[in-house]
Amino acid sequence: MVHPAQGQTVQDLAAGDLAAPPSRYVLRENKNRLTTPELAAIATIDVSRLTATATAADEEEAAKLRSALQSWGLFAVTGHGMPESFLDEILSATRNFFHLPPATKEKYSNVIAAAAAGGGEIDGETKYQNEGYGIDRIDTDEQILDWCDRLYLQVQPESNRQLEFWPPELRELLEEYTLRSEHVFRRLLAAVARNLGFNSEFFADKVGHNVSTYARFTYYPPCPQPELVYGLKPHTDNSVLTILLLDNRVGGLQILRDGRWLDIPVLTDGELLVIAGDEIEIMSNGVFMAPVHRVVTSERERISVVMFYQPEPEKVLAPSEELVGEDRPAMYKRIEAKEFGDGFWDAFAAGERTIDFLKVKVVEQQQQQQSEVAVSTSA
Ligand code: OGA
Ligand code: NI
Repeated sequence: MVHPAQGQTVQDLAAGDLAAPPSRYVLRENKNRLTTPELAAIATIDVSRLTATATAADEEEAAKLRSALQSWGLFAVTGHGMPESFLDEILSATRNFFHLPPATKEKYSNVIAAAAAGGGEIDGETKYQNEGYGIDRIDTDEQILDWCDRLYLQVQPESNRQLEFWPPELRELLEEYTLRSEHVFRRLLAAVARNLGFNSEFFADKVGHNVSTYARFTYYPPCPQPELVYGLKPHTDNSVLTILLLDNRVGGLQILRDGRWLDIPVLTDGELLVIAGDEIEIMSNGVFMAPVHRVVTSERERISVVMFYQPEPEKVLAPSEELVGEDRPAMYKRIEAKEFGDGFWDAFAAGERTIDFLKVKVVEQQQQQQSEVAVSTSA
């Protein structure tokens, strides 16, 4: 069953000259949003320097990466080889897409006729799917909705592309960006592996050659009372790593650190942002933690283009054995990447972390038993 409010885009709502956001979007508690948060002092990593045969200067870059991942779980990147003009083009095409008339965007809607989805449903019934244009999934009447619309597309593997949801004006840019962005992802993944003392292919083998990559174009409409809503609720990402191309005019992304929300500054033109996701947290047995982040809105519109890199669906997510030992028991259970990915959407609608929602964390008692097994087998 598709929730009756599923078809209501925030952009259309915001266009209606509202004095205040409707109650469905309004946060129940005072989230203390009005205090002016500090800027997060995030590192900038030059990915062109993350090479296997590193010079002393390059070693420094690798050390910076490790420290950025361990302290913030996020960092800005340069040296990715993509010209500023190319990134600008993607941002303007995204802005233009969201500014198209509602009827045009509707062609890519994530609420589709059930018959088109197969399964012989009754005529006129509709079905929600993740892919396409619209808002995120509504599961309950109580759910507080985010102040954003998005276009969500699987871009890799290529054979999984559902091109009927790809707006023609974004297609070529997205194809090109997919190729170039994967290159950045692979380079970072290799550097992260070397950082932990493994060979460059260590994590690449675990995620596979045919990664599942999803692109999320998000539009945060201007909000009449921004302090009452979230652009995007607090979450961690369903990814190994996420690569974000952010609005170069308006900020809004915040990260939770030591119980406080900090602003991620508007990036310098040509920079991308990288966030560690749940999958790297699991695979690294918690050496790298996925940071909780959210988006706050303002009176100005904001856009972002985000690439989520996920393992091949049949790969198993588990703490790498090399990172499990007596002093560091396995902190996460094994789970198939597909099951974890599907669980993300249920968790997201419920406002929980997938790792908690699916109970992927090992509780202390189990840890105890596991380390006892490890001791007895090693004795
Ligand atoms: C996301 C996300 C941040 C942004 O899509 O997961 O965190 O600035 N986006 O849009
Ligand atoms: Ni995110």
